[in-house]
Amino acid sequence: MSFCRFSVLAVAVSVSLVCIAQKPASPPAKATRFANDLLAKMSVEEKVGQLEQAAGQLYTDTQSDDLVRKGQVGSFLFVTDPVRANALQHIAMTEAPHPIPLLFGYDVIHGFRTINPIPLAMASSWDPALAEHAQSMAAREARAAGIHWAFSPMVDIARDARWGRIMEGAGEDPYLGEQMAAAQVRGFQGPYIGAPDYLLACVKHFGGYGAAEGGRDYDSSDISDDLLHNVYLRPYHAAVDAGAATMMSAYMDLNSVPASGNVWLMQDVLRKEWGFKGFVVSDWDAVKSLTVHGYAADAADAARRVFDAGINMEMTSSTYRKYLPALVASKAISVVQLDDMVRPILEMKYELGLFTNPYVDLDKFKKETLSAEQRASAEHAAEETAILLRNEGHVLPLAKSAKTIALIGPLADSQVDTMGSWSLHGVPADTITIAQGLREKLPNVQWLVTKGVEIKRTDASIFDAQAPEPKPTLLTEDDKKREFAHALDLVKQADMSILVLGEAMNMNGERASRATLTLPGNQETLLEAAVAVGKPVVLVLMTGRPLDITWAAENVPAILNVWYPGTEGGHAVANLLTGDANPSGKLTVSWPRSVGQLPLYYNTNRTQNPEAAATRYWDESSAPLYPFGFGLSYTQFTMTDLKLSSDRLAPDGSMEASVHVRNAGDVAGEEVVQMYTHQRAGSASRPVRELKGFTKIRLAAGEERVVTLKLAADELRYWSPSLKHDVLEPGTFDLWMGDDSTAKLHSTFQLDAATIAAKR
Ligand code: BGC
Repeated sequence: MSFCRFSVLAVAVSVSLVCIAQKPASPPAKATRFANDLLAKMSVEEKVGQLEQAAGQLYTDTQSDDLVRKGQVGSFLFVTDPVRANALQHIAMTEAPHPIPLLFGYDVIHGFRTINPIPLAMASSWDPALAEHAQSMAAREARAAGIHWAFSPMVDIARDARWGRIMEGAGEDPYLGEQMAAAQVRGFQGPYIGAPDYLLACVKHFGGYGAAEGGRDYDSSDISDDLLHNVYLRPYHAAVDAGAATMMSAYMDLNSVPASGNVWLMQDVLRKEWGFKGFVVSDWDAVKSLTVHGYAADAADAARRVFDAGINMEMTSSTYRKYLPALVASKAISVVQLDDMVRPILEMKYELGLFTNPYVDLDKFKKETLSAEQRASAEHAAEETAILLRNEGHVLPLAKSAKTIALIGPLADSQVDTMGSWSLHGVPADTITIAQGLREKLPNVQWLVTKGVEIKRTDASIFDAQAPEPKPTLLTEDDKKREFAHALDLVKQADMSILVLGEAMNMNGERASRATLTLPGNQETLLEAAVAVGKPVVLVLMTGRPLDITWAAENVPAILNVWYPGTEGGHAVANLLTGDANPSGKLTVSWPRSVGQLPLYYNTNRTQNPEAAATRYWDESSAPLYPFGFGLSYTQFTMTDLKLSSDRLAPDGSMEASVHVRNAGDVAGEEVVQMYTHQRAGSASRPVRELKGFTKIRLAAGEERVVTLKLAADELRYWSPSLKHDVLEPGTFDLWMGDDSTAKLHSTFQLDAATIAAKR
């Protein structure tokens, strides 16, 4: 945990700890002065207008112009045409009661026009610097198009692969989640708010959205205090400490209080405890939706309660615009309260420099959009994020001797799917598919390409309007049988086959949860039939969540999971399959064997009969198919000689753990060195293992290196569910280092006495 706000009550002695956390960003005094001067001149209606965020597509141009002219809107989302943005901005600056620039927000989730791999893939790089860079490139491209505010990063911890939005976050682990959250905030916002070519980050969805019951999107989250403090809230807090300018409230009930009206979450935790100084926007229609939850009596009540909770800006449902002026007139809400809600929005607009230059430079827009630099960065990211799950008999990299290769599957040549969901501004035609990438890479191979099967959701997706899915071509049962047989013929003709299978992009993302994890449609049958032909088969998985590949894990010699690799995906995957790039991604989610294992995560508490933790079910293993942190390479790394700088750790101190890493193979590669700890006794049961440090290193063939990770005692602090405050408890700790969460190299150390109490 990166927060630090406690006094120290030692059991035996008193010590004081050094606070190493960053401070949440505070607006500069001149921004506050500017905002206050402006507030003094604004009418109540104009102030309320600043709290309104309208969706571009829900209004005609004339209606939007009118709203801006009357000062009834402070922000738009989904306005991505820079010419239109300039026109709206011109009205705001010249015709509205006061010249206040509009703030344009958009879902820049994993790229804007140039699409990076999906966030779950980016986390699989285990390289926060890569995630930071990728989001800074996305910021640059989006800002050049007039976007000031990215609705990202999504930092919701997810431990259930059924949940469609697992693809949008960093996975199951709070420590990794913190690193990725902070890195992305830095990537979007740059060195300071208002830095050229950067924008505002919006951390979402506060808080606990990833724990939706049964993985059903929008369903309630019921999260114990233990898991809230020690798991779910941590990445949001890290993002705030990294200076996040804004947050987005979540849709669901958190322990039966809707997140968007949750005073504890928005006030006690976010503002009082964490010191957040930016502003909060609701999610789409989330305010009005409080009436649906049976929380607010009507829309006016919803507006009032959400306002009281501290949601500064309302996305789309316009209850503030309708009801706040009357609430102020009746003194139910004071002008001071209203000013407090508007001020941070004006401050951010000021800090972004929008009052002096709100307009898009169209030349710059053309230069930045889909530039060679953007494409190169996206290609590199895709290479770093693919995970090699299996490679029996070194089927990969592809043998140079293969003259004819069958490339089969509904995703092998699909531009829209290669981008992945939440790539709303991406253009399928810009995208390099795996088929295209491989043809370019190996022009002398005879490529036998066909779908074999088609896959389709059984209901409509909310993304269909933005990214229409390809129309099915196999309409009759005969068509389907003929195509299936054709694919198998190609497999027979070829020296080997690559099957690109998984989920269509709209099968995951928002409102895209699943009750099963099987390969959709007839893909499993196709895979099994292709393997039965008896020639080498490589499975390339394209997916936004772990899928049930238990059969493949035993019967398909090589499996490369490329998630959704984005605009340059085809080039990257071709590099990976041919060995010009070496897979180095590692899982940030425990990969289940079947849906019945969910929720699944490695950092469970150690409980009765721990040696039988893998046999908690009698009808199936309870261990994951692939553990958290797992991923192979074309080379082999050895790790030996774990050493701790000391076997005692002072409560205000830190220690170093090191291992000797050797690239024992004959190609260069990257390895992620991971460090886990376990607290043996304390005021509460502690997880069997917890990630406490990691680093990704590159070693040439035969190269060796001692890798050292630092462990600060403060990292061992946790929120004790029995004591109800943060503690750092003395005693024995286990420490492991290795290449995944089952790391074998083991040592122990002693944390010296000091119990920390931070009363909440
Ligand atoms: C999603 C948010 C998104 C917003 C605007 C909502 O439905 O939950 O993540 O930022 O729409 O597109």
